[in-house]
Amino acid sequence: MNTRVLTGITTSGTPHLGNYAGAIRPSIQASVQPGVDAFYFLADYHALIKCDDPQRIARSRLEIAATWLACGLDPDKVTFYRQSDIPEIPELCWMLTCVTAKGLMNRAHAYKASVDQNVARQADPDDGITMGLFSYPILMAADILMFNANKVPVGRDQIQHLEMARDIAQRFNHLYGRGRDFFVLPEVQIDDEVATLPGLDGRKMSKSYDNTIPLFEGGAKALRAAVMRIVTDSREPGEPKDAESSHLYTLFRAFATRGQADDFRKELEAGLGWGEAKQRLCDRIDAEIGPMRERYAELMARPARIEDILQAGAAKARRLSHPLMEQLREAVGLRTAAVPAQGGAAANKKGGGKRARFISFRDDDGRFRFRLLAAGGEELLLSEAFDHPQEAGAAIKGLQSGDLDTLARREGDMAILCIDGAVVARLNVDRLAQVRDAIGEL
Ligand code: TRP
Repeated sequence: MNTRVLTGITTSGTPHLGNYAGAIRPSIQASVQPGVDAFYFLADYHALIKCDDPQRIARSRLEIAATWLACGLDPDKVTFYRQSDIPEIPELCWMLTCVTAKGLMNRAHAYKASVDQNVARQADPDDGITMGLFSYPILMAADILMFNANKVPVGRDQIQHLEMARDIAQRFNHLYGRGRDFFVLPEVQIDDEVATLPGLDGRKMSKSYDNTIPLFEGGAKALRAAVMRIVTDSREPGEPKDAESSHLYTLFRAFATRGQADDFRKELEAGLGWGEAKQRLCDRIDAEIGPMRERYAELMARPARIEDILQAGAAKARRLSHPLMEQLREAVGLRTAAVPAQGGAAANKKGGGKRARFISFRDDDGRFRFRLLAAGGEELLLSEAFDHPQEAGAAIKGLQSGDLDTLARREGDMAILCIDGAVVARLNVDRLAQVRDAIGEL
C-alpha cells in the first residue's frame, strides 16, 4: 500500500516566494517519490472563512492552481482537485460535527486567539467570530479523513488541527465502526528541512506582515523591485559583510546549491556591495522560477484549461469519496443496507430479537419511499415514490390500519395496493400473506 499524503491550500491569497520555498516546491518534490500517492487540493471552502470578497476568492483559486501547475505539479500523477467539487466533504463534515465535542473546538488556537484579541480590546469575546472559524478544524478533519490520508504535511500552526482530526476519527470509529475502522488516523508531517524564508524586513515572509516577495505576479520586474527593498545593514561596498546574519543570504541559500551559496558568502565577506548582492539574488531566483513564470502566464491566459484539469481531478477524487460516503451513510443509519435476498444468511437468522418493520428512506431522485421488512430483514414490499414524507407516512398508516384484502387489487400475478385511490405499492400476490403476517406483528 502506498502512503497517502494529503494537504490543502487555502485559496485566499496570491502565492509568494515564501509559499513557493516552504510549501509548493517541497510538496511537488514529495509527490514524485516512489510509494507516495499525493492528494493536493484547493481548500476553497476554507477560504470563505477568511474572505467574503467573491472576486478575490475566484482570482486566488485561479492563481494558486496555475502556480502549482506551472511549478511542475503533474495532475496525472497527483490527485489535484478543488474542495468544493467534492460534495461528500461537506456531508462528512456534518457527520463529524455531530460527534465532535464543543469543548474540543473551544480549545482551538485559531479561535482562542480571536477571542483573546477581542477581550484585549474590551469587545464582546465573540465579536466577529463566525461558526465557520469556530468549527473549521472539523472541516479540515473531513478533508483529511475523506481520503484516509496517512501523512499530512503542514506548518507548525496546524499541528493542533491534526490532533483534533485524530480525535474525531477515533470517536467516529468507536461510535459507528462496529469492529472495523472507517478512518485511518492521520499523522502530521512537519518538515524541518524546508526553508522558512525571511521577508523584506527579516521577519518570516508572510502576507500578514506585508513583507512578501511575489512569486509570479508582476513578472520579473516586480520580483526585482521587491528584492531591491530588502532591508540590509548600512555597510558600504568594500566593507566586509556578515553573511550569516543577513537575510539576503538566507534567501539566496534557498535557491542555490551548496557551492553557489559558499561562493556568495565569500564574496559578501570580501566586501560585495548590497546593491550588487541584490542583483545576484535576483538572477539566482530567476534562474529557477523564470521558466515557470512563462508557463504560469500561459495557464492564466487559459482558465478553461485549468478548469478541465480540476474537473478531471475531482472525478478521480470522487471515485474514492463516493463509495466511502455510501458506507458512512449506512453506518450512521441514514440509509439501509441492500437487503439480503430471500434465504440469505440474515433471512435465516430467525428472530434475533428483531421485529418486522417499516423503513422510510429517500431515494436517489430525492423522493420518499418505504420498505416493509420481515423480522429476519427480508424485504417484503417496496413502496411507490412520494413527493412528501407525510404522504409516505400516511400510506404506512393506511397499510397498518386497513384490511389488506380490500386494499389489494389483482392484476395477473401482481397485487396493487391502493389507499384512497392512490397506488401505494405493487407486489407479487404470493407475498401478500407474508405482508399481512408482518403487519400483524408490528
Ligand atoms: N488549514 C490549512 C492551512 O491554513 C489548509 C487546509 C485545509 C489543510 N484543509 C486541509 C491542510 C487539510 C492539510 C489538510 O494551512
